[in-house]
Amino acid sequence: MAGELSPIDKAKFVAAKRAVDFVEDGMKVGLGTGSTAAWMVRCLGELVRDHGLRISGVPTSSRTADLARQVGIKIISLDEAKWLDLTIDGADEFDRDLNLIKGGGGALLQEKIVATASDQMIVIADVAKEVAQLGAFPLPVEVIPFGWQTTKALIEETLGSMDVLGHGTTLRMNGDRPFVTDEANYIVDLHLHRIGNARQLSLVLNQIPGVVENGLFIDICDTVVIGHGDGRVQVRDASSGAVEETRIEFAASDNLFADLGE
Ligand code: A5P
Repeated sequence: MAGELSPIDKAKFVAAKRAVDFVEDGMKVGLGTGSTAAWMVRCLGELVRDHGLRISGVPTSSRTADLARQVGIKIISLDEAKWLDLTIDGADEFDRDLNLIKGGGGALLQEKIVATASDQMIVIADVAKEVAQLGAFPLPVEVIPFGWQTTKALIEETLGSMDVLGHGTTLRMNGDRPFVTDEANYIVDLHLHRIGNARQLSLVLNQIPGVVENGLFIDICDTVVIGHGDGRVQVRDASSGAVEETRIEFAASDNLFADLGE
């Protein structure tokens, strides 16, 4: 029940709940990955089951696909959809221009493809994700397993000439084995602490052979929905800078709060 949620989970929930107001009947919707996106998938599932909303969802990971099926959302592939009306996803960091770091959950590649193939991308986040400058959160870079150590060394060499504070890199692990993405790749996390020029860094990283994609989302997000633990929600628009604030009440009977699974 909502009363048992931590303030951070309440913040994620209210952001997700507000964001699904943007979904209209008949839309093709990109479904993000992560704990905040999981709230959004559950909220959408409730609208589908209880209110007859008809949508097609394109999931950005196998985890999200499983959850979407569980809650009754019709799933289609991106190739079937071709283009989407809207994608709603979480983020690890966002700045005042609504540029993002994503990929903490390891799904950045599908997330970036799906968000880029959408008329609109809405990010849902708790207020703690807002930063003055990107980079405190380690930047995930997806690399192919072949020659990954060479790719990692090339990334480190490249960082030497970039406007970043830290240069450390680590291979993401899952226990004593490398973490493997849905696309069967590895993730190298870059511990940069501060990114001076995110646009340049993103372009340069993607030039390195073996790098598939990086977790910087530049000029992709249109709107951020920011949740607070007390139920307040701000909707901030990237182009106009307009901010709208509302409050969402928690419904104690809401069965969305049962066993989220993430
Ligand atoms: C998944 O790969 C990520 O991009 C997530 O969207 C991001 O890590 C945010 O996750 P949370 O909502 O769990 O913080």
